[in-house]
Amino acid sequence: MNIDKVVSEAEAAISQARDEAGLDEVRVRYLGKKGELTALLKSLGNLAAEARPAAGAAINSAKQQVKSLLALRKASLGAEQLATIVDQEAVDVTLPGRRPALGGLHPITQALARAEEIFVGAGYEIVAGLEVEDDYHNFEALNIPEHHPARAMHDTFYFRDGMLLRTHTSPAQVHVMENQQPPIRVICPGRVYRRDNDLTHTPMFHQIEGLVIDRGISFADLKGTVTEFVQRFFEKDLELRFRPSYFPFTEPSAEVDVQCVHCLGSGCRVCSHNGWLEIMGCGLVHPNALEMSGIDSEEFSGFAFGMGGDRLAMLLYEVDDLRLFFENDLRFLRQFN
Ligand code: FA5
Ligand code: MG
Repeated sequence: MNIDKVVSEAEAAISQARDEAGLDEVRVRYLGKKGELTALLKSLGNLAAEARPAAGAAINSAKQQVKSLLALRKASLGAEQLATIVDQEAVDVTLPGRRPALGGLHPITQALARAEEIFVGAGYEIVAGLEVEDDYHNFEALNIPEHHPARAMHDTFYFRDGMLLRTHTSPAQVHVMENQQPPIRVICPGRVYRRDNDLTHTPMFHQIEGLVIDRGISFADLKGTVTEFVQRFFEKDLELRFRPSYFPFTEPSAEVDVQCVHCLGSGCRVCSHNGWLEIMGCGLVHPNALEMSGIDSEEFSGFAFGMGGDRLAMLLYEVDDLRLFFENDLRFLRQFN
């Protein structure tokens, strides 16, 4: 029996093991059930009785030696592996950082916020209207009775129970007048819905309703307010045009065109080559509309307007196609961050 030789072979094998699996193979080879040192122990029976104790002790001490060599190697392999991981996963603090992709506010949201800021600065209160309305608030109370032809222009989405998606923000006026006595000075920005879909019309769009009621409010106040707003919103001295128009809930009524921000009136794609863009309907609140909501039309008068929020955004950002706002193409949206 050459125990020393077995031990030195084991020692060599242990130091050559590259990983824990290799090390385990060595353990099995020497200490396993059919391992070399185990075989030596089994062969003790072949020795003379007097020789057995000494030989047994020598083999056991050889086993202990191999075990502790295995344990040492295992520990150093662990340290090597850790060093490799640390090395591979090291962070180079001198490299530039990677920026997380930042979202941004939608251009229409930004345009509405810009408009809100201007009105709040002028002492207006912002009210939230309802997107699902009843027929009374969307039509009746706005002096649009059931068979009024103006209803046809609204292309309404109805629910089965007679409720509807508001076709304009004007029902918000009604809620305010029902709940508040003059002086009233509010805006209501929000989504409105119509069964309408083409180049310049989308089934959902945005309006900003405005309502001012007090003693002695005249059309001059309306003109002044709209003119001042447009100047501040576009930060340009744009020409405005008040065109006589008709809404059942205002009298007199007008639609307001603004000179195209892009071509300043000479005609381009943004304004469909006519130099002007309609941005709102407005007028003095009809006495019937005041009375229906409990406001004395002898004592008070007021003006109202409904601006196209999407049109304002188109003009502000010189976007020539309304649909771009609703396609959510990131290449488009990123330009507004
Ligand atoms: C109205 O909706 C009235 N309620 C406005 C009003 C309020 C008048 C208060 C008087 C007093 P009109 O349907 O014209 O009016 O719409 C108002 C504005 O919304 C338009 O000038 C236009 O800028 C915008 N608009 C209308 N339809 C669409 C659409 N399908 N897509 C995008 N913008 C639209
Ligand atoms: Mg119109």
